[in-house]
Amino acid sequence: MGSSAGAGEEAVGDVVLLEIGTAAHGGHCVARLGGRVVFVRHTLPGEVVRARLTEVGGSRRFWRADAVEVLEPSADRVPSVWSAAGPGGVGGGELAHVALPAQRRWKAAIVADVLRRIGGIEREVDVEAAPGDDARGGLGWRTRITLAVDPRGRAGMYRYRSRDVIPLQDMPLAAPAIADLDLFGRRWPAGSRIEAVAPAGGDRPLVLLDGEPVKGERRAVRERVVIAGREHTYKVSGSGFWQVHDAAPALLAEAVLHAAGPLDGAHVLDLYSGSGLFTVPLAEAVGPDGRVDAVEGDARAVRDTRRNVHALPHVAVHGGDVAEVIADLGVGPGAVVVLDPPRTGAGAEVTGAIAAAEPARIVYVACDPAALARDLRVAASRGYGLTSLRAVDLFPHTHHVECVAVLERA
Ligand SMILES: C[S@@+](CC[C@H](N)C(=O)[O-])C[C@H]1O[C@@H](n2cnc3c(N)ncnc32)[C@H](O)[C@@H]1O
Repeated sequence: MGSSAGAGEEAVGDVVLLEIGTAAHGGHCVARLGGRVVFVRHTLPGEVVRARLTEVGGSRRFWRADAVEVLEPSADRVPSVWSAAGPGGVGGGELAHVALPAQRRWKAAIVADVLRRIGGIEREVDVEAAPGDDARGGLGWRTRITLAVDPRGRAGMYRYRSRDVIPLQDMPLAAPAIADLDLFGRRWPAGSRIEAVAPAGGDRPLVLLDGEPVKGERRAVRERVVIAGREHTYKVSGSGFWQVHDAAPALLAEAVLHAAGPLDGAHVLDLYSGSGLFTVPLAEAVGPDGRVDAVEGDARAVRDTRRNVHALPHVAVHGGDVAEVIADLGVGPGAVVVLDPPRTGAGAEVTGAIAAAEPARIVYVACDPAALARDLRVAASRGYGLTSLRAVDLFPHTHHVECVAVLERA
């Protein structure tokens, strides 16, 4: 296992010398080895590193490597806050070796890059910190974690791009209430899945083992969120979707309200509505003369939403696939459409259908800027341009970033 600069005979496990280029979407940087593109994790633009090849092969479009020794470090490099997510380790902490302000610059460059390359949009982007994250070093924000259990019954996470479970001692991104559960000190049934939820506002944390409550009690939690000065309590299934960063529910709901503009008496569609995080404040903003149609595909989330909006008679909750429901429902010109799809984005069919209905405004909340950029191109082809964009780091120490985009007719 020597160190080479690209002799052409490389195999997985070989250590090679690499000069690191720009950051790419996915938490790695781009380097070249004998004319081949290598995606290198655990490094920073401008560094010179020795990297262990983790995926090679003539037919691959690009190879992959983990930086294992840094010969010329970047000024943005810091000691990793989560060594278990380092080279050869678990996924989910790929920027743990990068200073927090530099993580946000990294993500801003990625958002601008995918907007340009995929969306055809030239735009400078700032990525904001979420409240409180700088003070706590970007740790302790995850109110939801999912763990896997190894054959010896130890809780851990999957090795990056593998189904091997690496047992862990802790998970520094998890909220303190999850850390207090001692999930890593206990033994669990081999091969099982653990989900831990730390709700905001007083409820005890919930632990689910293969989807069942460990203590045989409740399956759902109450989440308290203060949105624009008003406190709301939501019922959320333990294994259902809820924003994972503790500051995200309030921050995103307020961002959506602001992006939607004046709503009194409006018709709003809240697509991919989850448990109704946005539905409730949107319904209050439209008032009794307006109406909100919430559309969600997960049956548990639909049930939770119905409960969460029970005092708001001008909300209709539709269970089903967004593409099918909006085809039946009809968006209607002048409506405001809010959509917060999963990582894959809304896609061309849904984005095209929304734009074709000529809504007054589209507010698109996206956790994958590349999927957002792809859908922005579709919207642009239907006459909707990007009029504002906020990007927030709701996932410190990972490569993920949340965007809130406003689209209006050009
Ligand atoms: C990113 S979450 C957003 C939820 C909510 N806006 C929130 O912030 O809590 C996306 C939601 O879309 C739902 N979903 C995914 N694909 C869907 C589809 N094709 N039709 C309807 N809902 C879908 C998921 O169940 C999930 O609740």
